[in-house]
Amino acid sequence: MRLISGVEEWRSFADAQRRTNRRVGLVPTMGALHAGHTSLFEVAKKHGDVVIATRFVNPRQFDDPGDLDRYPRTPEVDRALAEAHGVDCLVEPTLAAMWPAYPGPTPTTVTVRGLSDVLEGAARPGHFDGVASVVAKLLTVTGPCRVYFGEKDFQQLAVIRQMVSDLSFAVEVVGCAMVRDADGLALSSRNVQLSDVARRRALALSRAVAAVAEAPASASEHRRRLRATLKSADLDVVYAEVVNPVTFVSSVDTDSGDARALVAAKVDGVRLIDNGPVVLKGEP
Ligand code: PAJ
Repeated sequence: MRLISGVEEWRSFADAQRRTNRRVGLVPTMGALHAGHTSLFEVAKKHGDVVIATRFVNPRQFDDPGDLDRYPRTPEVDRALAEAHGVDCLVEPTLAAMWPAYPGPTPTTVTVRGLSDVLEGAARPGHFDGVASVVAKLLTVTGPCRVYFGEKDFQQLAVIRQMVSDLSFAVEVVGCAMVRDADGLALSSRNVQLSDVARRRALALSRAVAAVAEAPASASEHRRRLRATLKSADLDVVYAEVVNPVTFVSSVDTDSGDARALVAAKVDGVRLIDNGPVVLKGEP
């Protein structure tokens, strides 16, 4: 596995792959890798691509400096996992290479209006501007490629699809299934911050999403059930919503068909998210 930290070396590596007709697959990450990330590497590899993964904890997408400081960093483990799961080139760009003005503001920002303003975006002001801006830069340096994102961050995937379409990036966005632990908890780099007791309480997120997936109901009935499950574990609910899976507009009780349930809650100060499909039974 090749390790690269310089932007120009990374650009040349991707260019050289395309010159020999190899398709480039890009998997952006913030490190602290787990089986959710490695599943993306494996999907990318199966597509027959040369796999480039990036590991960069992007400060521009953290609205809380404490959260950025606490974000887990495991570079050696990450390198071993990436290599073991088919990554051909791991890019670890420096902060100076990505955002030379940091901690000052970077003048150019990519904002995806609408999709970025609700749920995660409303709870974490500026978060999706930071995500869209960094992903735009990763895509620009990498060049034409397939880029892989997990449905674990369902709203992030929608924001990126919109950006790629609006700005005509020469990339194909591939959404990949969410990976869960055996007990249902969505794998997340933040899970290591949970005590055993907090981890058990955190299972209410996946239980809530699984419960509403079972039976069609109205949007408000789904919301009521999501909240009731989260509250039963005494979680600090940030949101528990049912939305159109493409526009992210809140579903109303006359809607029917496919929608998405999304939840966010804090467990002992650790912020966790989950989501899953629901079917709406529209009320006349
Ligand atoms: P990070 O949280 O490291 O996640 C990197 C990728 O792994 C994202 O596409 C995310 O959806 C996916 N992922 C995380 N947990 C997963 C799980 N349990 N199952 C499937 N996929 C999972 O998301 C980010 O980093 C950043 O916002 C980034 C896109 C890298 C921009 O900085």
